Amino acid sequence: MSRLSLISLLLLLLAVALAMSLGLSCSRKRASSTLPNPTAFGAAIVESSGRKQMAQTGLLLPQPVVVQVNDAQGAAVPGALIEFSAARGVVFDPSYGLTDSSGQVTTNISLGGSAGRYRIAALTSDKTGKKIELTIEEIALGYQQTLGRQLNDQYCDRCHNPESTAERLSNSDNLEIRPHPFTEGDTLDKMSDADLTAIISHGGPALNRSALMPAWGDTLTKSDIQALIAYIRAISDPPDRNAGAVFARN
Ligand code: HEC
Repeated sequence: MSRLSLISLLLLLLAVALAMSLGLSCSRKRASSTLPNPTAFGAAIVESSGRKQMAQTGLLLPQPVVVQVNDAQGAAVPGALIEFSAARGVVFDPSYGLTDSSGQVTTNISLGGSAGRYRIAALTSDKTGKKIELTIEEIALGYQQTLGRQLNDQYCDRCHNPESTAERLSNSDNLEIRPHPFTEGDTLDKMSDADLTAIISHGGPALNRSALMPAWGDTLTKSDIQALIAYIRAISDPPDRNAGAVFARN
């Protein structure tokens, strides 16, 4: 075989290999964007669990989100298609699925890289093709807010969170004057940053409140207290005007 024909043979082999790999990657892409065909349609889509969670930006929410398709009578519908969507940067695992025998699809969600509230949409359609949508909100905490959350878990939660868990016994019920959970926007939004700084640093009496709220000025630094305030603002429900950006589907 001449050197020339050997080279052209090699080139041909290379071209075939290239074409095959291109073809493969194309068909793979097509396969993943083909949605499964629903075998049933519902009339409503509801959240079963997982809304109002928080995680640091870019990280997985602690619990999966579970949504359910129901028929007009409120009975679960297996075999319906649900698709999830949100702002860029939010990752769903999986991003769509057919409802299981209990009418549900479960997805794990990682929020985007910017701190704020993320609107997550779950979409299905009824038998006429009309879209039915459910929107839930999840919160991504920035670095400072995450620090505030850790300080809260360490110092504040036992009095300010009324729920006892296996790991943590709440002291809230034992207090004569009940502190508010920090999610309670109706109360906390009315307090300015200066008020929050005062009561956290110097205790209840700083604002003519009960001394059952201790002073933390000797325990926490100024930037710790700022982090706590950033956290309190971030988790406020309903959202505080300082609560930060809202990210919806784009
Ligand atoms: C030992 C229990 C206890 C701990 C721990 C505690 N607090 Fe409080 N806190 C209270 C009580 C009780 C009140 C309500 C005082 C009142 O209304 O007279 C209060 C009130 C507050 C308020 C005013 C809003 C509200 O709930 O009425 C803020 C803000 C606050 N605390 C922040 C904090 C922060 C931040 C921490 C952690 C660094 C913390 N607290 C730790 C008991 C506690």
